[in-house]
Amino acid sequence: MPNQYPLYVNGKMHTVQADPETSLLSVLREDLNLTGSKYGCGEGQCGACTVLLDGKPTRSCITPLGSILKQKITTIEGLEKEGRLHPMQEAFLAEDALQCGYCTAGMIVSAVGLLNHNAAPTEPEIVTAMQGNLCRCGTYRRIIKAVQRAAGVQRRAAR
Ligand code: FES
Repeated sequence: MPNQYPLYVNGKMHTVQADPETSLLSVLREDLNLTGSKYGCGEGQCGACTVLLDGKPTRSCITPLGSILKQKITTIEGLEKEGRLHPMQEAFLAEDALQCGYCTAGMIVSAVGLLNHNAAPTEPEIVTAMQGNLCRCGTYRRIIKAVQRAAGVQRRAAR
């Protein structure tokens, strides 16, 4: 039975009508036309659908709409501010940390989530935080460099 759900996405309030079991990913892509988050496995295993819920990386393909209670949702589309890319997006470009790009939105969102609670992650910490995000093109080394670059930029900006 469809219900109405208020959703706070990328700084804006939306109301969607859907069944409580509908995945957050479906609602983002189909109801709100936010197609940056990708459908990969649909089972919480690949990370292509990652969004931030209150700043924490979350697999939106396995997150039922009915389980989200007043949490702030941030998708890849919500990272740029006033026309400027997020430092993590800039770092992925600078380090050439993508090939086909299918995993990239989820990678960037997961990496932003990592820096939200660890401003200076070590390489093993980056690997651990990102290991649920799969890249079939094999750009992992460059992704690690991009996360390190963005962490440095953010630390310098915070001084
Ligand atoms: Fe959600 Fe793969 S599509 S983890």
